[in-house]
Parts: sequence; structure tokens; C-alpha cells
Amino acid sequence: MKWICSVSLAVTLAIQPAFADDLIGPHQLTPQARDAFVTDLLKKMTLDEKIGQLRLISVGPENPKSAIRDMIHQGQVGAIFNTVTRHDIREMQDQVMQLSRLKIPLFFAYDVIHGQRTQFPIPLALASSWDTDAIATVGRIAAYEAADDGLNMTWAPMVDVTREPRWGRGSEGFGEDTYLTSVMGRTMVQAMQGKSPADRYSVMTSVKHFAAYGAVEGGRDYNTVDMSSQRLFQDYLPPYKAALDAGSGGVMVALNSLNGVPASADSWLLKDVLRDDWGFKGITISDHGAIKELLKHGVASDPEDAVRIALKSGIDMSMSDEYYSKYLPGLVKKGAVSEKEIDDAARHVLNVKYDMGLFNDPYSHLGPVGSDPADTNAESRLHRAEARDVARKSMVLLKNRLETLPLKKSGTVALIGPLADSQIDIMGSWSAAGVAAQSVTLLQGMKNATADKATLLYAKGANVTDDKGIQDFINLYEKAMTVDTRSPQQMLDEAVATAKKADVVVLAIGEARGMAHEASSRSDLTLPQSQLKLIDALKATGKPLVMVLMNARALTLTHTTQQADAMLESWYSGTEGGNAIADVLFGDYNPSGKLPMSFPRSVGQIPIYYNHLNSGRPYNFEHPNKYTSHYFDEANGPLFPFGYGLSYTQFTLSPVKMSAATMPRNGTVNASVTVTNSGKRDGATVVQLYLRDQVASISRPVKELKGFKRIMLKAGESQTVTFPIDVSALKFWNAKMQQVAEPGKFSVMIGLDSARTVDAEFEYL
Ligand code: BGC
Repeated sequence: MKWICSVSLAVTLAIQPAFADDLIGPHQLTPQARDAFVTDLLKKMTLDEKIGQLRLISVGPENPKSAIRDMIHQGQVGAIFNTVTRHDIREMQDQVMQLSRLKIPLFFAYDVIHGQRTQFPIPLALASSWDTDAIATVGRIAAYEAADDGLNMTWAPMVDVTREPRWGRGSEGFGEDTYLTSVMGRTMVQAMQGKSPADRYSVMTSVKHFAAYGAVEGGRDYNTVDMSSQRLFQDYLPPYKAALDAGSGGVMVALNSLNGVPASADSWLLKDVLRDDWGFKGITISDHGAIKELLKHGVASDPEDAVRIALKSGIDMSMSDEYYSKYLPGLVKKGAVSEKEIDDAARHVLNVKYDMGLFNDPYSHLGPVGSDPADTNAESRLHRAEARDVARKSMVLLKNRLETLPLKKSGTVALIGPLADSQIDIMGSWSAAGVAAQSVTLLQGMKNATADKATLLYAKGANVTDDKGIQDFINLYEKAMTVDTRSPQQMLDEAVATAKKADVVVLAIGEARGMAHEASSRSDLTLPQSQLKLIDALKATGKPLVMVLMNARALTLTHTTQQADAMLESWYSGTEGGNAIADVLFGDYNPSGKLPMSFPRSVGQIPIYYNHLNSGRPYNFEHPNKYTSHYFDEANGPLFPFGYGLSYTQFTLSPVKMSAATMPRNGTVNASVTVTNSGKRDGATVVQLYLRDQVASISRPVKELKGFKRIMLKAGESQTVTFPIDVSALKFWNAKMQQVAEPGKFSVMIGLDSARTVDAEFEYL
């Protein structure tokens, strides 16, 4: 599929890959040379060695270093994940080279989701930048730091479209929209893999979680997904396809079932769609323990059955379970699995190792002995300036009553809130090898910004939550939340006294990072009670209240927003988060981010998404009618729509100009709009193109994003933005599952968010 987007996808190489030479070594990195090499290698391998290649393990209590050494010796392991220092990685690669019969290099993988050592904003925040150059910078630097640690592969990007803010993993993806997620995912793959995953400072990507993991029922992690083929192909599959078309060498398979079939047992998904229709040649990897889980899904009768089903369905490599090694030899012996099937899976593993350049140089990401960094966490290994720049671009200004923001760097500012000084939370979940002690909190960022100019006061005000059950949940696997032992009242009193001394209050509130993570689903999306009480108490002081949200999902903030004079969604903004937020609060950066997810008014509205169907009885709030589709106790629309975000300046849009009233078959038409910065400050905004197929053979969404462009305008400046529209933007999957563009009228809607647009139309002939 061809995507229209007037934003340049050229990957900006923030770091010039000085070491990114074409491969030095005997093997040409071409598919033909690879196929010949792998065919030859497979002939030399025993069945056990082939099965060994299919095993992916992590060093830990279950697999101590000594056990791994033995497995490596026997050729029983294909790849390692979660080991992140050159020293440890070299040790294992040495064992392969010294002990194993065929010396097939291991590859080393890790969850590099939004940075390796330097933490950039979480992916949901990155999507809020709508800035592909920024995403490319993140991808290049993340890959650079990961490769510099010896890694070859990342379990990223996650492109699971989600309309489910209750689901904690929305934080790892790019939001609710298919087009935006596709653009972001594709950019990330291109940036991380660079010219070739074999380059010294590139890593291979493994797009995940295939497929439709973001649609788990009720937003409960690992739950069932059931959806129509049209919705699957139209809304959920394109981002995976975009990442694969960009060259992603890996695919991680989802944990959920899709229409009753667990993804790890779905040969239609993994073979018919992925291999046959999409021509994927890389590797499929099961998610953590997913093969074992086929028993609990109730599709396998015993472990051996699970292994047979997974392999036959198209899972090449098994993550974190010993089942493949244990049961495949017997299955081949009894003829339930053929050696050809083992060969196919092993070939995919060897293919990616070849593409990673490991057969030319197993140490290509390690360098010579003695070259390891003396301190893996050294400051010099971080990319702080880039992290700060991307973080400020990813923040979304949600409210700014009477221009409360930007703040002046004078007078007295009170910073209050449980997240104001939390180094761990600002990094966000899946923070790879990031070190909390290196992250800049908002308190530190505001100190840096106000030094010698304004008085800065601080009080914590409340714990993130007083709910013991939630505190324990968050601290279950890591000591992630420090609970202040003072009584809630003592903390509130201190906060109120602090606020009373200030001209303005900045309140850092939201979620602990463990509340928006894998296995962190919520049924209530309001702020925790402890924080709501803090807001009430501060509101009562009458001081202007600037809320800085730190969270990783769309929250329900209807009442909270009313209490705020200004509200900034900062998400989890990473290593340089505190400095970046301060840049925005004090006007050193004019916010430009736009929401990649609709913010509901209440949980009862979920799923709420902008590209819904109209229904036969759409509600019209200007002419309300009981027998129309609505809630009698809640509005239909979101609190903040998809694509929404304010600026410290104002932008106005001209009417839309179409280059023609009609679009010929397979031709193009252009839609243009002139954007003017009519305010007093320079600023960036994102111009968004939406289309609607007015009459079609099946009901089509009220609007769908089909293009966007981020532009920077000086105060008073205007720019005309032109969106070329071609047939790929009109296509959809019809009732017979054919991808078609049907003749007829299309509405063109251009706006600075999805709700308020200037409109035109054209006819597709
Ligand atoms: C997650 C994956 C992740 C894997 C390895 C699983 O629990 O679902 O997204 O890549 O663990 O850490």
C-alpha cells in the first residue's frame, strides 16, 4: 500500500554513521548470496543444531550463565535477550566461537522502545509530535546506543493501534490512528535499521505485536480480540505492513487470540497473510512464553501439541520457553513435524543473522577486546540535547485560560505534586538500559530555568496514590514507588502553605509509570483520590493552577480540567524531561504537540475514536432526538479530540482550495489550505487532512486521517500547505474483502485537530 504524506520521510541522520561502512567480510549482503550461504549451512547442521537455532533465552535465575554456557557448547541456543553490556555479550559470543561445533553466531536483542541509555519520551508521546524528523532522530540514536552496547535487534516498534485507554500498553504505541501509526512505525524502522542492520550503529527491528493486540476486550491485557475482517485489514493491519515494507527483519507475534485463534497458533495470520500475501522473508518470534500459553488458550492438549501447533502455524523462534528444544526432536522422529518445517524456521533465523552481518563478523557490534566503555552509564554516552528537543516537541497544551502560560521567570513559583521530583517515573516504562539517577525531574528542570531569576518553592503534596493495593502492585517487581510516610493531611497542609506563598502553582500529577505498562490495565481513568484531594485543596487557595500531566494513556479529566487554569500533557518525557517541560512552561519553546488519542469524558464512552461510523441514527446536539445514538447521561464527543493541541500563538486556516472538482480514475487531486500565524509568537502546528467517502457499498467512517504536515510559522507569517490525494487514500476493504476505491463524492476536511475543519469535496470518477 502506498501512503500519502506530504511530510518528508527522509531519515535525518542525527548521528552520521561514520562507521556504517558496507560490510567488511567475505559475504555479500544480497538475498541471493544469503540464500546460497544459508542453504549450504543448513546442509551441515544436525537436526538438534537446527532446533537450537529456534531458541531465544534470557539470562536469569532460570538460565544462569553456567547453564547457558553448556547450551551454547551444544549448539542449543540461537539468540539471547536482556543482556546489555559489551562485556557480557562478548563473553557469550566467545563461547560460541570457542566451544560450538559450527560457530553460528548468537544475536542479542532487547526492548529498546524509546531509547537505550538516553530515554526519549515514550512512543505515545513521540506520536504526539507528529514530527517524522524527530522520530527518525530517536530511532537513529536509540539504535546507535543499542548497537554500541553490542545489541543486534530490538523488540520494536510496537504499532498496535488502540482505541483502548484502559490498556496499559497504549504507552508503547503510537495511538488510535492507522495512518499516523503507520507513518511513525515506518519511520522508526527506517531510522533504526539505517542503510542496513549490519552497519556498526544500526539494529534490526522486530515489529510487534502481530496482530491486533491493541484491541483486547475491555482494555484488559492479554484478553481476547474479536473483529471483522474489514476492520482488521482497514484499521489494524496496515501499520505492521508499513513497518515490514520499510524492511523490518523481525515480527513479534501477539499474545492474544484473534477471532478465537491465538496468534501463535494462527497459520492464516503467520503464513497466508504474512508470508504469502505480504512476502515477508524475515523471522517470526513468539512473545514471552506464548507457546506454553497455547495450553491455557485451550487449543493444545499438552506441551508437545503446543509445540507442533506453533511450529506448523509459522512461529520460527520461541521466546523464553524450553518447549521447542524439548519436544521438537520427538515430533520430527514420529513424523508429526517434518524436517523441512524445521529447516524453514531455522532458515529464517539464519537469514536474519546473515542480514545482521554476523557471519562476516560476529563481533561487529562489539569491537576489539579492551574497547568496552569503562563505565557503561557514563554521561558521555548520553544524547541529552536531542532528548530535550524531542521531548518539548512531544508535549500537548490542553488548556490555557487567559494565557496563564507561559510563566514569567520572576516572582515566586510553587511546584507541587507527587511526580514533580520522581526520576523513575519521568523515564516511562520500558526504559531499556536507562538509569533513573540520570533523568532530570521537573523540579530540577525548573530550578535550572529559574536560577537567580525567580523563587522556586516545592512540596510533594500527596503520594501518587494512597491505595495500598495499588502501591503494592507497582512495587511488586521493582521498588518503583517511594511512599511518603507522612499523613495525607500533613502533606496537604504543607502544599497549601507553600502555594499560598507563591504567585502561581505548577502541579505535577498523573500516574506512576507502573500504572501504564504491560499488565497494567485500569478500569478507572481518573486521577487517584490522593491527587484529586490535592487539586481541590490547591484550587481553594485561589492561586492560578498550571497542571502538568505525567501519564501514558488518555485519562478522564473532565472535572480536573475545569479546575485547571492551564494544562500541559507532558506524558513521560524521558531523561531530559524536566528541562523540556520547563522550556515549555516558561515559553522557551512554544508547544506544538497534538493528541494521538481521543481523551474520553468518562470510561463509559470507551471505545471512543474519531474515525467512527455515522450509524443510521446519528445524534445531532443542535436538534436532539431521543431515538438517536447517544448516552442520556453523557455527551457523545470526547473531552479532547484526536489531533488536538493548543499553542501560545493562534493559527487560522483559509478555505480549502481543490485543484479540480474531480479526480480521474487512478489520478490525483490536490487540496490546499493557507495557514496563518495570526498571534504574536512564532510557533509550529500540524495541519491535518481527513477524507470521507460520502456514499459507498459499505458504511465508511465520518473521517479518516490521510495526510499531515508539521509547519513552523513566524508571527504574522502564512504558508500554503498542499496535500496530494491519490487513489490509495480512497481505498477500503469492501464486503467481499476486495480492496477498492469506489467512484463518488469524497469530503475533504483540513484542520488543526480532527474536530474543527475547513471543508471541500471532490468526485472520484
Ligand atoms: C512483551 C513484549 C516484550 C517481551 C520481551 C513480553 O512480555 O509482551 O512486548 O518484547 O516481553 O521483553
